[in-house]
Amino acid sequence: MQAIAISKTGDYDVIEKTEIPVPHNGPSNVLVKVQYGGVNFIDTYYRKGLYPIHHFPQALGTEGAGTIVGLPTDEALLQDGEYKKRNFHIGQKVAVYSLGAFAEYISIPWSRATPLPESVPVRTAAAGLTQGATALTFITEAYNVQKGDVILVHTVAGGLGLLFTQLIKWRGGTVIGTTSTPEKAEIAKAHGADHVILYTKEDTVQRVLEITNGEGVHAIFDGVGKDTFEGDFKMIRRKGTIVSVGNASGAVPPFPPLKLVEKNVRLLRPTLANYVYTPEESRKYGSELYSLIEQGILRINIFKEYPFTAEGVQQAQKDLVGGKTTGKLIVKISDE
Ligand SMILES: NC(=O)c1ccc[n+]([C@@H]2O[C@H](COP(=O)([O-])OP(=O)(O)OC[C@H]3O[C@@H](n4cnc5c(N)ncnc54)[C@H](OP(=O)(O)O)[C@@H]3O)[C@@H](O)[C@H]2O)c1
Repeated sequence: MQAIAISKTGDYDVIEKTEIPVPHNGPSNVLVKVQYGGVNFIDTYYRKGLYPIHHFPQALGTEGAGTIVGLPTDEALLQDGEYKKRNFHIGQKVAVYSLGAFAEYISIPWSRATPLPESVPVRTAAAGLTQGATALTFITEAYNVQKGDVILVHTVAGGLGLLFTQLIKWRGGTVIGTTSTPEKAEIAKAHGADHVILYTKEDTVQRVLEITNGEGVHAIFDGVGKDTFEGDFKMIRRKGTIVSVGNASGAVPPFPPLKLVEKNVRLLRPTLANYVYTPEESRKYGSELYSLIEQGILRINIFKEYPFTAEGVQQAQKDLVGGKTTGKLIVKISDE
């Protein structure tokens, strides 16, 4: 089969289109013919070697959506109550969450496949899975957003940021966002952001304190990392929660725990993977996510579709890291 893969870690040019064997479907796995893949920052972490890869060549991409073409065969699993709840069958449309999604076929442990409602297109499903599940788990488990909360979202116009914005509004919160350009600010407002601060022109700390009458925000979702971490402590209110979401500007450097004393701040650095670890968790959040999309509560904004070529995936990674994108980047892998 064709795959977009790397044979070694390095710069964008290590990304190549190559032929690798169709994976053998293990007894507890589903085999999926992939139609669309979603592009994420984590793809660049794998490509650069920041996150370890154990075997080369390795197909890139950590999420996608397509059609089930092979089912598990393990007899004990087939009788398992949790497994039966997914109602898997050949021809079913599913979204998948696993390294190696930029390939014509992927074999994954069954609990990493989420069945799609009829009305959610495969393209939307691929675009919404990782960022949608991240936003949903983080506003539930990292900081449980309540009606009346005021929340600061950095990277508010990005793929994750637009989803955080919609979900926080849905819960009854107020969203303050930061972004770099007026065009991005308009997109964030169109998705519900109440206040958008242009950090390139305005003093973010001063503006947040003005908006919150000097009190600061209940929680911060920070996908920028290194550049925004210090400022977060000036904008969080007493007993507030800072959620370090990612490293778009680089990883946060080490700091002393005594830093939390001044306002009794809670600080978390979670990953989606640890919130959807068990089959029950992945079913609960997967079905909730696609139900929110189905109801139109969560709109998935696709920035651009890239071709299933080495150049296409290289360009997608360059665009994402270059900070010029809004919403989600996807790769079209096959027609069906
Ligand atoms: N923890 C998890 O499980 C998890 C899951 C998914 C994503 N994430 C993280 O969430 C963050 C957002 O992901 P995303 O895919 O939605 O990306 P994105 O927000 O669409 O793109 C990144 C944005 O970060 C902003 N940015 C600020 N400083 C930057 C810099 N120095 N270099 C590049 N960009 C910079 C840019 O927006 P402005 O122009 O508006 O500043 C850029 O568009 C990433 O850090 C990602 O790793 C974490």
